[in-house]
Amino acid sequence: MAESMQGLHRTCRCAEVTKEMIGSEVTLMGWVQKARNKGGLVFVDLRDRSGIMQLIFENGSIDEEGFEKAGHLRSEFVIAVTGIVEKRGGAVNENLATGEIELRVKALRVLSEAEVPPFPIEENSKTKDEIRLKYRYLDLRRPDLQRNMMLKSQVAMLTRQFFAKEGFLEIETPMLGKSTPEGARDYLVPSRVHPGSFYGLPQSPQLYKQLLMCSGYDRYIQIARCFRDEDLRADRQPEFTQIDMELSFVDVDDVIDVNERYLAFLFKEVLGVEVKLPIQRITWQEAMDRFGSDKPDMRFGMELHDVSEIVKHCGFSVFTGALENGGSVRGINAEGQGAMPRKKIDKLVEFAKGYGAKGLAYIAIAEDGTRKSSFAKFMTEEEMDALVAAMDGKPGDLLLFAADKKKLVYDVLGALRLELAKQMDILDKNEYCFAWVTEFPLLEWNEEENRYTAMHHPFTMLMEEDLPLLETDPGKVRAKAYDIVLNGNEIGGGSVRIHQNDIQEKMFEALGFTKEAAYEQFGFLLDAFKYGVPPHAGLAYGLDRLVMLMAKVDSIRDVIAFPKVKDASCLMTKAPQPVDDVQLRELGLDVCEEDEEVQ
Ligand code: AMO
Ligand code: AMP
Repeated sequence: MAESMQGLHRTCRCAEVTKEMIGSEVTLMGWVQKARNKGGLVFVDLRDRSGIMQLIFENGSIDEEGFEKAGHLRSEFVIAVTGIVEKRGGAVNENLATGEIELRVKALRVLSEAEVPPFPIEENSKTKDEIRLKYRYLDLRRPDLQRNMMLKSQVAMLTRQFFAKEGFLEIETPMLGKSTPEGARDYLVPSRVHPGSFYGLPQSPQLYKQLLMCSGYDRYIQIARCFRDEDLRADRQPEFTQIDMELSFVDVDDVIDVNERYLAFLFKEVLGVEVKLPIQRITWQEAMDRFGSDKPDMRFGMELHDVSEIVKHCGFSVFTGALENGGSVRGINAEGQGAMPRKKIDKLVEFAKGYGAKGLAYIAIAEDGTRKSSFAKFMTEEEMDALVAAMDGKPGDLLLFAADKKKLVYDVLGALRLELAKQMDILDKNEYCFAWVTEFPLLEWNEEENRYTAMHHPFTMLMEEDLPLLETDPGKVRAKAYDIVLNGNEIGGGSVRIHQNDIQEKMFEALGFTKEAAYEQFGFLLDAFKYGVPPHAGLAYGLDRLVMLMAKVDSIRDVIAFPKVKDASCLMTKAPQPVDDVQLRELGLDVCEEDEEVQ
């Protein structure tokens, strides 16, 4: 039967016991990692979130009854032990912080027994994700996940500490609010009191934090839960956490300055990594041209080359056709990959097609300088020479080309560049390469809605010099928006906001909003701005993404205690679930069958 805590107090955690404590008495509590019964001796590895401590039970050191109990210990039993710290009798375990010591147990309590867990509780589990997530409470016992959770807690603590020192106030904003325009679908919460009306869970605290600036709080921070109903990926969850901030009386450089110092502080404190300041800045256009991505991984080169001019008059209709349609021809040089077998190149072509390419043209240059190419027969020798020269092609290199609309070429080569880097194993997880991407386009054309939408959000300020373009050529207007990118991941983003009514009106016009429609959605913000609004700007980090990179893991799920899977469900609680009719009726809701026509 499970015993109670009565009269017992834990003195420290397992890995907090040190050599210096040899001879002293401690009381430890935790889970049995492993128990080995050697007849007259029982060895137990005791685990808590700090690590492992070896316990030794010997008949005589502990009374008969205690020794008998020790013999029945099994994995995952929860126990409390009191004993004396000793130098290890057996071999020292180099892999353990407590590898030179052990605890000679005088008293044992079994606080809880345990069934055999569905998978072993150990580091680097090979268990299938579905099983791990179904039994997440067991998965969370594993040392690697425990380290990630502790890391995240440390990051949150240091974040609060840093920004408090910088004069930021932590202020909470509502979860039940009006939906925020961040571009994803909202999660809605039906109102019982107002049947037919819904709250929107925040996609971010954007509007509230701008209102806080109107109210004079001048530097705000919040570690805020956000909700977005969008397709899940390895770096996305439907609910996630932002480190969200807003500052008054500032411009781009002020936001960047405080955040650079924050990142340097955080990485130094947590990882001992020096972030070299200032962090490099690259405009959105340059990032696209050089890396085919607005979140470039700049740990390596393999930059895009625009060869449109070179191939303009060549005989290869794939190239010239794309150019005649207003497109672009660009390539990357996978240095040293010239000997890649045809089958592997074909796989790259398929990969490119997955990103919408119609094909991928290549030139493989052998070490002796001879060339193999998928389109040589359409080109003269001189044209090929010029193309290879424009790509800096050397013997042993593989040149890959995409010809299409510019955006597609960027996407395809941007993705291909990362894929090749992965295949060539040139990405170092211990290297942290930061970059600010600035001067994003203000608007992007939305084919489905046949109108411009805001790339960041409708309150983002444009670069003053581009103001005249807003009416004549909106697609060319650059925003005072910036993203902070780390190793090819967007870890944060923000902007200077529009605080001038006339500019905001022009912006809504460019977005195709009537004045009434804009008021309908954001009237409270526009009204607030009538009563004195300071110039303001802000930024939000994805805390989970940031911690994912700091923990050097590949999935955001490994830094979230209870994450959702791809279809946004939780395998442990089985949420979401249907609710009973009474609950629905109270909310004034009815659920129609899937094939039932919605009126
Ligand atoms: P943005 O939409 O860029 O900006 O979001 C800020 C950061 O939040 C992270 N993020 C996510 N992390 C996990 N799962 C998701 N589904 C997800 N979506 C976003 C990213 C991203 O950089 N209100 C603005 C900020 C501002 O302008 O101040 C905003 O939300 O790391
Ligand atoms: P085809 O003449 O269609 O067989 O194409 C010749 C070569 O050009 C093949 O290697 C194709 O993969 C490649 N290719 C086809 N379309 C494109 C494109 N849009 N951009 C780059 N290469 C392409």
